[in-house]
Amino acid sequence: MDNVIKPFTTIASKTSIEAILNLDSEAFGTEQAWNWDNFVFALPFKMDLSFVAFQNNNIVGYVIASVYDLDNVLTGHVNRIASGKTTKGTGIGTKLLNSVHVKCKKLGLSNITLEFDSALAVLDFYQTFGYCQMTNEDFLIKYLKSKNKLLSKELYFSEKRIVLIKNLSK
Ligand SMILES: CC(C)(COP(=O)(O)OP(=O)(O)OC[C@H]1O[C@@H](n2cnc3c(N)ncnc32)[C@H](O)[C@@H]1OP(=O)(O)O)[C@@H](O)C(=O)NCCC(=O)NCCS
Repeated sequence: MDNVIKPFTTIASKTSIEAILNLDSEAFGTEQAWNWDNFVFALPFKMDLSFVAFQNNNIVGYVIASVYDLDNVLTGHVNRIASGKTTKGTGIGTKLLNSVHVKCKKLGLSNITLEFDSALAVLDFYQTFGYCQMTNEDFLIKYLKSKNKLLSKELYFSEKRIVLIKNLSK
């Protein structure tokens, strides 16, 4: 079955919005689920870097990404990615992430970051794309400062939350 990746900006109908919200609570659980305000929250370059995956006209995945300033360097960031329960492991996550990487390179970005709860156990998935764990404490502090998350640093130092970085030229 062919998966088609389209810009997030193509999402307009109520049905599409509901499909994305359903996918999100399926992937992250109802307690951690985003509402539509989270999806449309303005972030730099978000509309350039966010995509939706379709299979037979059904929405089966999405990625929300944006750009931020990490230690004075404009850097890409994957804010959220999920693929549907029934389509997991069929290459949708790969296509979505590759679309973000290609667009980041077009924008001239050298690095991209992301973070996740260690309970999600997705490290292996990202390592296949060349993402590495941000373990250098000084750099992690710079990351947390830029994300306004310094007050939560224990979560990161205890590795309950994992931060990954990928060099886009590799
Ligand atoms: C992570 C996620 C987006 C991957 O999407 P996907 O459509 O399943 O990914 P793909 O089908 O492209 O998988 C590519 C490869 O990674 C593997 N993979 C997928 N999820 C994995 C995981 N959690 N751990 C290890 N490997 C994983 C697949 O088996 C596949 O391997 P293969 O190429 O050897 O067959 C999806 O599992 C998901 O929605 N997870 C729940 C939400 C989540 O954790 N989001 C990330 C938080 S930042």
